[in-house]
Amino acid sequence: MHWWRDAVFYEVYMPSFTDSDGDGVGDLHGVRSRLGYLELLGVDALWLSPIYPSPMVDHGYDVTDHRAVDPTWGDLDALEALVADAHAHGIRVTVDLVPNHTSDHHPWFRAALGSPPGSPERARYHFRPGRADGTRPPNDWLSVFGGPAWTREPPPTPCQGEANREGAERGSDEGRDQEWYLHLFSPAQPDLNWTNLEVWADLERTLRFWLDRGVDGFRIDAAHGMCKQLDSAGGSAYDDPRFDSDDVHDVHRMIRAALDHYPDRVAIGAVGVRTGTRFARYVRPDELHLAVDTRLSAVRFDADELRATIEDTLAAVDAVGAAATWALSDHDVTRPASRYGGGVTGLARARAMALVQLALPGAVYLYNGDELGLPDVELPDDARRDAVWKHAEHGRDGCRVPQPWETDLPAFGFTTGTPWLPVPDSYAALSAAAQLEDTGSTLSLYRRALELRRLHPGFTGSGLEWFGAPSGCLAFRRMGTTLVCALNTSTEPVPLPPGDPLLVSGPLDDGLLPPDTAVWLA
Ligand code: NOJ
Repeated sequence: MHWWRDAVFYEVYMPSFTDSDGDGVGDLHGVRSRLGYLELLGVDALWLSPIYPSPMVDHGYDVTDHRAVDPTWGDLDALEALVADAHAHGIRVTVDLVPNHTSDHHPWFRAALGSPPGSPERARYHFRPGRADGTRPPNDWLSVFGGPAWTREPPPTPCQGEANREGAERGSDEGRDQEWYLHLFSPAQPDLNWTNLEVWADLERTLRFWLDRGVDGFRIDAAHGMCKQLDSAGGSAYDDPRFDSDDVHDVHRMIRAALDHYPDRVAIGAVGVRTGTRFARYVRPDELHLAVDTRLSAVRFDADELRATIEDTLAAVDAVGAAATWALSDHDVTRPASRYGGGVTGLARARAMALVQLALPGAVYLYNGDELGLPDVELPDDARRDAVWKHAEHGRDGCRVPQPWETDLPAFGFTTGTPWLPVPDSYAALSAAAQLEDTGSTLSLYRRALELRRLHPGFTGSGLEWFGAPSGCLAFRRMGTTLVCALNTSTEPVPLPPGDPLLVSGPLDDGLLPPDTAVWLA
């Protein structure tokens, strides 16, 4: 069996994991210094958020050069040293890839702005004339971050090429060809044009560049993006012509073909589509190896909803012979401990959901800090840094606060400088050091669960069998094994299914499974 089919991937959100040089932002040497911890935790592979040169408008998801390392994180040597050391610890390293867009500081985009409409430089992006004499965007598409998905290019400067010079000299916008460019995310992230073969060739080079340096694979950002139905009036399967176009599967076939030249590498799509069937198309045998299913993180703490989502995903991936990949959170969403209600209840539910997630057949994604049960942090306005997110007042900073490592060091051992987001005092008691020796801690629960997942025969089956369970509860086991996972989302304690408890997310109540609790029995 391929290693990735049941692997535990651990997301390292680069800015927030560990800072080795005192600039207050995490880096590659910082990650390297934590490999002992990651081995102790028991993860199989890392996913590093983008490490490429970037103006950091979206913390690395705005890339200016896909084949280099931003000095914020270190350099190529630091990456290679991390990969070598991680391998020595038995941990693989995958890196984020951002094929849907670049930074607006990318040399391609600068060249596009300096070139006239219709030029090959512009053809790497989506430039269009506006409606209503150029004053309104080409269509009404919205950006994922809020606001229009189009921005009108800035007025050309005198040095920006012959075609625009005349208008610039007149000092007015009149008569100039100020087009609009498409960005499904922020205006600082113009979308690439995936009908342009140069764009394809460039991604192939990027893949080989990193594979030759020994990385074990890629997490592909917005893997349902790339191809857009811009010039057709018809919608996609969801009447959303921005995403999940049939053409995107050709891109994934190319990615797969490139990886197939290297043994044991993996391509994992971050795929945000609405049904299991559409989702499974990304993991057909000649496409991506895995796709992260974030639908579990969008489900409420409710046994029926959880079961329906799990069944839908499993049926869909089974139909194409792929493994499922389960994620409860990442750097874009509220952490489980806060999302499930906050406080004692939120943490209890997050711990229970960890046992559900880790019992499911397939691969899993953990987000750094969830193994410590960290809650989101309410940050004061002047500390917030997520400037591109326009929907919620708070942005995504609350789940990105740096990881606490020690109890009594400044910034709890994350940095010797000033952390890029303030770390609250309440994180001291949740630090890795505080939790390592405490057998009741969330970190100990994760360590034991990951150990059992690795060693217990109950985790070998691939299918899932459901048991009858009281209302508000669910119980399942891997097909052909004896290990049962039961979860209680109701408000009453319920009897345990047969078997001896191996691991519980919280104390049992006189032999009953209390609300907000999960158990593994064998
Ligand atoms: C998804 C990433 O997870 C998110 O952080 C980023 O802002 C968008 N893609 C745009 O790249």
